[in-house]
Amino acid sequence: MSAKRIFSGIQPTGVPHLGNYLGAMRQWKRLQDEAPQGTKLFFSIVDLHAITMPQDAPVLRQRSREMMASLLAIGLDPAKSTIFYQSSVPAHSELKWILDCTASVGYLNRMTQWKSKLAGDNNALRISDDTIEKKLKMGLFGYPVLQAADILIHRATHVPVGDDQRQHLEFARECATNFNHAYPGGNLVAPETMITRSPRVMSLTNPHKKMSKSSPNHRSRILITSDEDEIRNRVRGAVTDSHNAVTYDPEERPGVANLLDLLSQCDPEAREPEEWARHLDAENANLGDLKKAAGDAVVRELAGVRERYLDFLNRKGGRWVKEIEEEGAEAARESAAETMRMVREVVGF
Ligand code: ADP
Ligand code: NA
Repeated sequence: MSAKRIFSGIQPTGVPHLGNYLGAMRQWKRLQDEAPQGTKLFFSIVDLHAITMPQDAPVLRQRSREMMASLLAIGLDPAKSTIFYQSSVPAHSELKWILDCTASVGYLNRMTQWKSKLAGDNNALRISDDTIEKKLKMGLFGYPVLQAADILIHRATHVPVGDDQRQHLEFARECATNFNHAYPGGNLVAPETMITRSPRVMSLTNPHKKMSKSSPNHRSRILITSDEDEIRNRVRGAVTDSHNAVTYDPEERPGVANLLDLLSQCDPEAREPEEWARHLDAENANLGDLKKAAGDAVVRELAGVRERYLDFLNRKGGRWVKEIEEEGAEAARESAAETMRMVREVVGF
């Protein structure tokens, strides 16, 4: 059994919030730190995917750079992981086209993501054919094929994703199978899914919604680069309810449950939220005490991230992060070139 190759991508959304960190990025760091010798890890800032929606060039460039500095700041290590911008490896786009030629439109048509992106999540099923023809761009429709190319180009054996991405990974497997079937000698590797049990971090101002970059209310989220005061302030300002006792009841008391979840997520001993609730209740703690404890836990979890982030962006006048970007791009291009040699050979180029 050969060594694992792990691929995952994240959109260049700028500085991540605590939900992105606990839900996705921290898993990457754990995979990196726990990887057995020989494991290859690829983490991509997927800027080609970003342009399926309209972007402003300077903003996209800035957010991509901010995401790079964020990944480095949380502890992804360029000596252990290949960290790169998708657009710096043209083979992602090249393989995407080649896969387009064997991918089934029917399958893509059944996928729901483009529908919800076009119509807004609530109207996913009510979108008219007329709207689709006017608004739907090829890039948005074919997005899963690019995702498949991202994975297959690096011969990923394992792809850590949230449950919502399961369908897309199944499609990537399908793309590999279709290609291998269409071209004698084709041997793209169908990846395995690694569903990561990722917690949903809820908005601090509306615990019925998840924490998101798109909320206009800044107080609803904590950024991984927030300073200590800001973290404590946001947690102190979190919407809870009017009962003062600490109990874990995600249905009835979502705001309180969210704080207990945060406490549990940021607990070095990973004690469950129910256990935290029992512990705090036994000490007659009130919601103020819970907020204090949760604030402390988040501050501890994010300690040093802000400083490292600023350091990466500023050291050598920004040239340092540039060197890391160039090394990542080079390593990713080499990995991709190996797959493309096989692909071009069997296709007939
Ligand atoms: P946003 O919801 O802010 O737009 P993205 O959709 O760009 O974030 O998600 C990037 C990654 O972060 C995904 O893996 C997603 O599952 C994860 N993520 C985003 N928000 C949360 C959250 N509130 N709790 C847990 N994980 C989240
Ligand atoms: Na989102």
